[in-house]
Amino acid sequence: MEPPSPFPKTGTPGTPAGGPLTALSDLGRALSESHTPAELGEAVIRFVTERLGYRQAVLCMRRQEDDALEPVAIQRRGDPPAAKASLPDITFAPRQIVAGPLKATTGNGDGWLFHLFPEAQHGLSTPLVMQGQVMGALGVVCADATPFGAQEAAFWGAMSALIAAAAANLQRTQAQRRERRIADTLNQISAALVSSLELDHTLSLILSSLEQLLDFDSAAIYLLTPSNRLRMVAARGMPQVEVTMASSKEVDRFRLDETVLSSRKPLAVTDVRQDPRWTPLKGTEYIRSWLGVPLLARGNPIGLVTIDRSTIRPFTPRQIALAEAFARHAAIAIENARLFTRVTAQQEQLRKLSIKVVEAQEEERRRISRELHDEMGQALTAIKLNLQMLLVSLPEGDDFLREQVEEVIRLTNDSIQEVRRLAMDLRPSILDDLGLVPTLQWYKTQFEKRSDCRLNLSIAPQLPRLLPNAETALYRVVQEALTNVSRHANARRVEISLSADEKGVYCTIEDDGQGFSPEAENASGVGLTSMQERIEALGGAFNLVSAPGKGTTITIFIPAPSAFRAEEGETP
Ligand SMILES: Nc1ncnc2c1ncn2[C@@H]1O[C@H](COP(=O)(O)OP(=O)(O)O)[C@@H](O)[C@H]1O
Ligand SMILES: [Mg+2]
Repeated sequence: MEPPSPFPKTGTPGTPAGGPLTALSDLGRALSESHTPAELGEAVIRFVTERLGYRQAVLCMRRQEDDALEPVAIQRRGDPPAAKASLPDITFAPRQIVAGPLKATTGNGDGWLFHLFPEAQHGLSTPLVMQGQVMGALGVVCADATPFGAQEAAFWGAMSALIAAAAANLQRTQAQRRERRIADTLNQISAALVSSLELDHTLSLILSSLEQLLDFDSAAIYLLTPSNRLRMVAARGMPQVEVTMASSKEVDRFRLDETVLSSRKPLAVTDVRQDPRWTPLKGTEYIRSWLGVPLLARGNPIGLVTIDRSTIRPFTPRQIALAEAFARHAAIAIENARLFTRVTAQQEQLRKLSIKVVEAQEEERRRISRELHDEMGQALTAIKLNLQMLLVSLPEGDDFLREQVEEVIRLTNDSIQEVRRLAMDLRPSILDDLGLVPTLQWYKTQFEKRSDCRLNLSIAPQLPRLLPNAETALYRVVQEALTNVSRHANARRVEISLSADEKGVYCTIEDDGQGFSPEAENASGVGLTSMQERIEALGGAFNLVSAPGKGTTITIFIPAPSAFRAEEGETP
């Protein structure tokens, strides 16, 4: 059915099919269903082409970052219908859109429109104004320059007001959404950054997070070295990152960076090629627009983040503020990671030192033990043999002398036993020769001989030989724990169990004695402390549970790398 006021399909401005009110209400509905600028643009283009009959039309919308008007939908001659065409890469300043009495213009009248439709003879452009602000522009190409009648002008005005309102609304929701997204992203980033403690990981996390906030082609982090030079430590999007990173070691400081560091403020350069301070590193000659943001820790610069664009796309004040907010989080994360690295390194040093001390101590004990056993033991045995020979060669009848010699032999025997015991206590050679398990079995016999307490050893059948330091540590801990049992526990039974899996070695020492309060002031003596230190030096865990009347349980864990030989690796 022909509409009452048919719109001529020639591209002449006029009133729409279906009557102006119906058309406007249809347009309003279509606009309200648009959630993105592209959807909005598509709805508008479809309206002016399908309902108003124009063959070529374009809708531009204001870009939030820089207020430029950019096409969001276009329909050109030869384009597929419904504005699915690719968008031209061109923007206009709002002042390029001619406002004022609505009439079709000829030739270059509305310059912006003829940039998009160079072959057009006549065009009609209208700014979309909302509360005095240009939200965008609608342009159509028409067949002639016939002025609008009053009705058509009223319709056109209502239509553009409708589109402007929809555009403003969309921009507002988009801005809100963007703010929310930025806030969320910043929160996520700062949470992730604070929990990341490894410096390299933190640095790459900073750059990948930055990508969620800002649009850039490359970005890098530079940190001040102890000699006050700047060194690139991480980069993203740099085509020749190795070359660039290497060349960052050769130069002192760059003058743009210097400005950022000394002012402690971000610095944005629209075109670095116009800036005499720009001295590009190798491989970064592509950079055009540049933003440098200082990394400040407690107010002092520790480095900077540089954000690059390979075409001239200036950074807006908003983007700069965002980068600055981001850099605050990043600087804290870098400081944290560095502190953590330092502390970890110191701990590691301390651990190595304490292993060395223990090793030296064990070596010394081993030496004295051997000396006692070999030298003293030999000497005493020789004395004993001589005395026995003397005894044999004593003349009959001298009972007094015989008893005296027999007494000396007995004393010598005791001394031999005592030296042997001392040597074993210091460092049982069986530990070096046969390992932990036979040593513990030997120790059990000794222990039960000396006390009324029964000792039960439960050792996993396939327990492998452990590394010497682990065997020594376990032996010393068991020794000290059993000394405590006999000294303080008043226990009837003590149970030692030893097992291993792929994670490491586990040992528990549990007695049924009187227990004690580990929290009490006097509870931690040299013995307990040194047990703990020995185990922790091997990267392991030491745990003691006790309460008065409840017995005492010590649990020990030594991780696989400290416990097992690397080449064997396998566990029971
Ligand atoms: N198995 C245990 N049963 C009861 N008390 C214990 C036991 N082990 C340790 N203790 C208590 O913990 C204290 C600290 O032990 P330790 O550090 O070995 O020092 P020391 O044995 O020289 O007193 C002991 O004095 C004792 O009171
Ligand atoms: Mg003790």
